[in-house]
Amino acid sequence: MGRADFTYDFPHDRLITVDDLNPLDIQILFDRAEHWLAINQSADKKHDALKGLTQINLFFEPSTRTLGSFELAGKRLGADVVNFSAANSSTKKGETLADTARTLAAMHPDLIVVRHNASGAADFIHRETGIATINAGDGMHSHPTQGLLDIFALSQRIGDIGGKRVLIVGDILHSRVARSDVGMLNLLGAEIRLCAPPTLLPTDVDRWGAEIFHDLDDALDGCDAVITLRLQKERMSGALIPSSREYFHFWGVTGRRLEFANPDCVVMHPGPMNRNVEIESTLADDTDRSLILDQVEAGVAIRMAVLEQLGQRARKNARPGQ
Ligand code: CP
Repeated sequence: MGRADFTYDFPHDRLITVDDLNPLDIQILFDRAEHWLAINQSADKKHDALKGLTQINLFFEPSTRTLGSFELAGKRLGADVVNFSAANSSTKKGETLADTARTLAAMHPDLIVVRHNASGAADFIHRETGIATINAGDGMHSHPTQGLLDIFALSQRIGDIGGKRVLIVGDILHSRVARSDVGMLNLLGAEIRLCAPPTLLPTDVDRWGAEIFHDLDDALDGCDAVITLRLQKERMSGALIPSSREYFHFWGVTGRRLEFANPDCVVMHPGPMNRNVEIESTLADDTDRSLILDQVEAGVAIRMAVLEQLGQRARKNARPGQ
């Protein structure tokens, strides 16, 4: 039950995008996540790495996995954790994000985890408050802990990511997960493929360091992993796909289609998933091939690793007596 016996001089006071991280940061976070993964499977999950620190989870968008795992992660590390949701916050009464940020900062939290539908919101809160801020998803921009957990879960199953062929398929245009996964895969030297209908690709995709496909069977050829994405209808302003049924026909990942990939190819989805739209329901539940629940499990461990590093730094920077 002792305080975590590990120290690394984490060179960041926030986590806004995976582009902030260097390969050593990632290796340290993965090593610590592996440690917390084992602890989370044991009967004694409670530790005190964040004892005395306060963590605020400030969520302006719905979430099951990210909010639940940040709450569990903070509590398992001994922090006092408070959740604020937009539905119950004073933003409903017209309060600005700046005023919300300053109000919460006056309560002296040590860590703020924020999800918001506006790109740049987490960066804004960090600049307004100076408090260690973790981006839990900002608009279409970034979801760094999802990128970390996806690639951590994948590396737990297939080993070294360098040189592996990884395909991301689906609504890449609206996906902060795709942007964070691509950032991680580029940092670790994977061969990246993207597959989507032309209407669901961003205009700058040629600068992402990935090979672009529109035909899923071609894209799957020789892949070691395929990451399927949710169709983000809440971010679509027009009809960007013909119908869910037609989308599944052309871009849905199925067991039959995986025959074009390597025999051991695994399939992932960040959730929440639309069964038989983005991924065949039976494939999603096939634990030999699907890492979907491994991703959820990895999410708690990765968030513990991130909170631990930023919490240690926040503790070091706090004024004596604070
Ligand atoms: N993957 C993800 O961010 O899921 P939630 O929206 O449930 O947090």
